[in-house]
Amino acid sequence: MVKSPLRYPGAKKKVLNRFTQFWEVPHVEYRDVFVGGGSTFFGKPECPRNWLNDYDEEIAAFFISMRDYPEELCNLVMSTKPTVELWRQIKDRDLNTDLEKGFRTLFLNRTTFSGILKGNPIGGIEQKSKYTIDCRWNPVALCEQIRLCSEMLQGVTITALDFSSVIQEAGENVLLYLDPPYYHKGNLLYRQGMTHEDHVRLSDLLKDTEHKFFITYDDCEEVRELYQEWAYLYPASWFYSSSNKKAREVGKELFISNFMISEQIACNFGIGGEN
Ligand SMILES: C[S@@+](CC[C@H](N)C(=O)[O-])C[C@H]1O[C@@H](n2cnc3c(N)ncnc32)[C@H](O)[C@@H]1O
Repeated sequence: MVKSPLRYPGAKKKVLNRFTQFWEVPHVEYRDVFVGGGSTFFGKPECPRNWLNDYDEEIAAFFISMRDYPEELCNLVMSTKPTVELWRQIKDRDLNTDLEKGFRTLFLNRTTFSGILKGNPIGGIEQKSKYTIDCRWNPVALCEQIRLCSEMLQGVTITALDFSSVIQEAGENVLLYLDPPYYHKGNLLYRQGMTHEDHVRLSDLLKDTEHKFFITYDDCEEVRELYQEWAYLYPASWFYSSSNKKAREVGKELFISNFMISEQIACNFGIGGEN
């Protein structure tokens, strides 16, 4: 499977096998409305038409640079050795082109604690930890991933729009996949967060859309209230190990769609349907 070069907080790569049945709904266009690190797009079955979107324009610039300038991006990766001084310079630089912005996204993502783009460098400013700023910077492996991703991105539309434009754009046989920032705590992880009003606006747009959609959220009262009257809710849980705690924690999410998946398949994946 092709892997995204980004270590994205909230990435879905470890739970992609839970999504299989949602991709089986007939569609000829796939829209990833909150693409983030892109682990879902790179891990799902291919589709004839694709549109990737993220409101963070430097995330979109990273996907555009992988699609259009993979060799230039690899040259920048190969010639860079991360240090705290360079991290400070790159973070504060004024940039113009998609390639420059895309490289900054990759550099900060791979040198920042847990890939949180607004966070501190791995190992701290003092670099006193056993993990140093360059511990996740493997230029050869990164370039291999960039080239594979670039092949998959040929012909793909990439934008940095608010979710409303992507949902409201007409189309035939469209499947929207949405992985918004978590209702709780999502705003700590991303440069672009969402308010309560944004979550309500999203739910209203999805209620009206003619497209099929599948959304993943944190399982909480506020989200249930927005969807339970009119959509299908599939609670899902799994164990994951967190980077700063030794114990395994339980991840609890809601998968929500405006189409039904087979009950039997849902049970096999440990998902219980509600609506
Ligand atoms: C949970 S992350 C997506 C993670 C992704 N599924 C992955 O596997 O890496 C949510 C993303 O939504 C983006 N975002 C926040 N507000 C947005 C908006 N109004 N419209 C579109 N994207 C937005 C953030 O920049 C962030 O990258």
